[in-house]
Order: sequence, then C-alpha cells, then structure tokens
Amino acid sequence: MTYRSGRHFLQLPGPTQVPGRVFRAMTRAVIDHRGPEFGRMVLGLFEGLKWVFGDPAHVFIFPSSASGCWETALVNTLSPGDHVLLWNNGFFASKWGDFARALGFDVEILEGDWRGPADAETIAARLAQDRERQIQAVLVVHNETSTGVTSDIASVRDALDEAGHPALLMVDAVSSLAATPYRQAEWGVDVTVCGSQKGLMLPPGLGFCAVSEKALDRHREVAPAPRAYFDWTAMLGDNEGGYFPYTPPTTLLYGLEASLAMLREEGADATCARHARLAEATRRAVAGWGLRNYCQDAGAVSNAGTTVMAGEGEDAEAFRLAVLERFDMSLGTGLGPLKGKVFRIGHLGDLNELMLMGALAGVEMGLKTSGITHTAGGLAAAAEFLAEARRP
Ligand SMILES: Cc1ncc(COP(=O)(O)O)c(C=O)c1O
Repeated sequence: MTYRSGRHFLQLPGPTQVPGRVFRAMTRAVIDHRGPEFGRMVLGLFEGLKWVFGDPAHVFIFPSSASGCWETALVNTLSPGDHVLLWNNGFFASKWGDFARALGFDVEILEGDWRGPADAETIAARLAQDRERQIQAVLVVHNETSTGVTSDIASVRDALDEAGHPALLMVDAVSSLAATPYRQAEWGVDVTVCGSQKGLMLPPGLGFCAVSEKALDRHREVAPAPRAYFDWTAMLGDNEGGYFPYTPPTTLLYGLEASLAMLREEGADATCARHARLAEATRRAVAGWGLRNYCQDAGAVSNAGTTVMAGEGEDAEAFRLAVLERFDMSLGTGLGPLKGKVFRIGHLGDLNELMLMGALAGVEMGLKTSGITHTAGGLAAAAEFLAEARRP
C-alpha cells in the first residue's frame, strides 16, 4: 500500500472522525479498574452522560457496539416471549426487530415508509386496540442512519399516553445523540440505546443504555429473560462506586471523558445548531446537483447524514468506490435494499464548515468524473448558504 498524503475524509454518519483531543486523552497509561482514581473518573462519566441523554435515571456503559445495547435493552426489561411493537422504517430498525426475534420475543412490526418518519397516529391506533395490554415495549429508531430520516419521539410518547398504555418506550438514538436534541426524561423514554462512534466522537467500542426509573423497576419485577454479560443487576451494584463487574475498556473511557468535556464546552444547543447548519448546507448541495434526497419529508430530514439517490440505472456504489479511490473520501454505502441505489453523506461529529465543504467538493468532483447524471452548482449553493448562516 502506498502512502497517501493529507487526511482521509471519513464522511460517514458513523464512525465519525475522532478529534485529536480524544485520541490524546486515550494515550494515558491504563490504571487499576478497581482503584479509587478509576471510580472517581467513571462517576464523573455517568454525570456527563446523564447530561447528554437528557436526565435518565442511569446510563449503563457496555464494552460493546451499539447493537449489543439493543440486546441489553430487551433482555433486561422483558420476560421470555413478551410481545413488542416495532416501527420499521429502515435498515437499522429492521435489524433491531431481527435481534428481538432471535432472542425469542414476539415481535410485531408496523411497516412504515422508509422515506418518512414513524407515524405516531398509527402507533396510537395499534396501542388503543391492545386492550389486554399484551404489548410490553414500543421500539423506535430516532434517526434512521440508512435513510437519513429522523422521527419525532415526543409524538410517540404522546401516542402511548393517549392510549394510557403502560408499555416501555425504547429508542435507538445511535446516530441522533449529540447531533439532534434528545430529551430522555422530558419525552418519557424508558431505554435509549447508543454507541460511541457517532456524535460522541469516539472510536467504536462502547455501547450505552440510558434508562428510566420505570425501566429499572421493570428490570427488578419481570421474570428475567436469559442474560449474563449484559445483566443490569450486576452492573448496577458495581456502578454505584464507578466500577464494572468485569474489566472495562479503560482507554475508551478516557476518550469519553474528553469528548464529554468538548460537548459541554460547545454547549448542547450549539452542537445541535451546528449539525443542523451543516445538514442544511448538504441538502442545498444535493438540490444544486439536481439529485434527490431519499427522505421525502422535509420535517424529518436528518442532522447526521443525508441519503442521496442515484438516477435510475446508475450505480451509486460504483460512484462511492470511485470517490474513495480518486479523492480518499469514504461516503456511506447503501444498506440492505438500498445497496447500489443511494450513497450517504455523513455530517456528524467533529466537523465544521470548511471540513464539510471539502467533503462536498469531493462529491462534486466525483460526480463529474463518474458519469452520475447531475447539474453543476451544488458546491456553490452550499457555500452561499454557509457564508450567510450565522453561528448562534
Ligand atoms: C441507527 C443505528 N442503530 C444501530 C446501529 C448499530 O450500531 P453498531 O454498528 O455500533 O452495533 C447503527 C450503526 O450504524 C445505527 O446507525
């Protein structure tokens, strides 16, 4: 392999670019994970995480990718065979459903339009029919990374409240956290699933499960589903002092300490406003190229990533690979049934205007050289918007 000068553009909606400050924090020596310095650090991390998630009762940190926390959420709050309702509007939502089914739960899928958000009215209607209260949990993905569609979680909460339904509300916030406002307590979310490699700007490897008191009560009350490594009870005991029931990934926790500090310094509103601004610039570029955003609902477009459709008969995957080869930039691939039909531009994590413009320039040059039908002017449209858009 030959050396390529300059930096690789990792323009995915996760994993995202890890800032130097986070990497530097991770190079400290590993310390005793049962010693006082470690306990103090982890108690501080719990506080920081509660702030990011919007005041849950507790945030479990698991050495796992985010999908591990899909599993954690289910096996700690449900009994074997329990009925769950899942809104399916994308690749990750359907995978969460597959996990639930593989774990032996009775999964009912509400098939949604992949090009739009979760429909709270449909969910409310289904919950109202459930007079026997069979449904134990409602599962929704906040930001569907495969499609670039964001759902309104507060409206799903309202659906549960309208039906007076006691089911737990479980939300995948893997690619929305620290990019889109997230308010666990205010929205009455019982379990939020997340991972380290997206808005939190860390390498992959940590999974998070932010939980409400109600979820913790269910955990104590239900006939437990089989679980061992992912058991909350063991975690809760050790977490009280800032410890884990096993050896945690100390260096990733150092990184988390740095990334939480960075998010606090920027401020939650400013972080979300920055993501909204960069996302809007990207959409203007896409429109300027005469290409179509996969998301068809202007109120549900994503702050984290934009999924762009190639024209009929054009190969989005070949385009993506050409951009990688020619300009050293990774764009997101089309996932599941969208393979070859779309490419995804990530605008998530540690990113500013000029970094985004570099990425969009790479897309525009790629479009020029790859034969994807487009019009000129995307980059100029983004530049014009960003030059005018003021930081709050
Ligand atoms: C919305 C969403 N949920 C879940 C996952 C799975 O996360 P992981 O690959 O860390 O297990 C992803 C990964 O991109 C995601 O975007």
